[in-house]
Amino acid sequence: MEDIVADDFEAMWRDLLPVGRSASSGGYFRQPFGGAEREAMAWFHERAEALGLDVEADPVGNTVAWWGGPPTAGGPKAVLTGSHLDSVLDGGAFDGPLGVVSALAAVERLRAAGVSPERPVGVAVFVEEEGSRFGLACLGTRLATGALPWERAAELRDRDGVRLVDALERAGFPEDPRHVEWTELRDRIGCFVELHVEQGRDLVDRDAPVGVASAIWPHGRYRFDFAGEANHAGTTRMEDRHDPMLTYAMTAIAANKQARLSGQRATFGRVDVHPNGTNAVPSRVSAWLDARAESAQHLEEMLAGVERLGRERAGRDGTTLEVVAESVSPEVRFDTELAQRIVAGHDWPVIPTAAGHDAGILQSAGVPTAMLFVRNPTGVSHSPDEHAEMGDCLAGVDALAATLERLAT
Ligand code: GLV
Ligand code: MN
Ligand code: MN
Repeated sequence: MEDIVADDFEAMWRDLLPVGRSASSGGYFRQPFGGAEREAMAWFHERAEALGLDVEADPVGNTVAWWGGPPTAGGPKAVLTGSHLDSVLDGGAFDGPLGVVSALAAVERLRAAGVSPERPVGVAVFVEEEGSRFGLACLGTRLATGALPWERAAELRDRDGVRLVDALERAGFPEDPRHVEWTELRDRIGCFVELHVEQGRDLVDRDAPVGVASAIWPHGRYRFDFAGEANHAGTTRMEDRHDPMLTYAMTAIAANKQARLSGQRATFGRVDVHPNGTNAVPSRVSAWLDARAESAQHLEEMLAGVERLGRERAGRDGTTLEVVAESVSPEVRFDTELAQRIVAGHDWPVIPTAAGHDAGILQSAGVPTAMLFVRNPTGVSHSPDEHAEMGDCLAGVDALAATLERLAT
């Protein structure tokens, strides 16, 4: 049995590994509805069909491969597992794909062992989990649970100005999501379990290959628009400038300090400068703050502090600052009863995380949800250097198979 899991997981992992990997950095570029991500999705379809699973997709491409057929009206609600195949820009191999490949391997293992589930078991791949293209993390699950109305999503644009609805059409999606009736996923599933690589070193410190999530920190993405006056880089005296880059730089330093002083997280990881020329004072800088905190109050206080310091600085620089909250995700506490059921008889630590996940959206939509984490030796994630040892990945498959068996039979 051990061999089957090892062979199947490792073979699938090797197969998927080159899809979307950059030859120069070794990182992944699997942005939603683009070539590499579609290739990864095609791989999933092919693999799921080879396993004899029934594959179903919604109008934005959230896909579920069902073992035992899709849930039917009046029938038992399904046990859902899975994760995502899209990546951040220059991301790691594990964030997302580990949960998808482990789910396929776990189902394969249970079938090979002759387990027969009493409820449908689904392996899901959700789209645009990272928000790397349309800016809103967990876009697929927000739509599938009704947390985000389609009318709002349709207007989202990527960095080239392409609307989501047009990106779908270009990617050859068969139906225009504006004209279909959505089946709400949450009405069909009894629980969801997402396996994910840990994005920190908690399990390393606890010497445990596998853990279970307790909660997700509240977090948000905020666009800071700084405006000033374009001018000549050589002839404009320093004291005559209204330089939004300077206001941004001081705000980034302030955000870092606010987060460090309060034990929270604040990151400016994306900047858009206009006109982005070397020999001109820019007229406009947009920068995105990713902020995360242990409680909603800490998050609000930190954001208010950064905003206040940014505005004070703008006053001194003769620039302006507007802040737009692009997405805010409240704290998620995963279903305690489900976590207890999963850890019973195992020594899997129960730990919180500051990373966002589709699991958080499903839990917030009222679906009892749990997460399994697989140890990450360095804790590095959202980076080409993200890693997990094969032995730990296989321990994750074992844990997921045991969990699915427990929940489905
Ligand atoms: C998703 O991975 C996030 O935490 O941003
Ligand atoms: Mn991620
Ligand atoms: Mn992820």
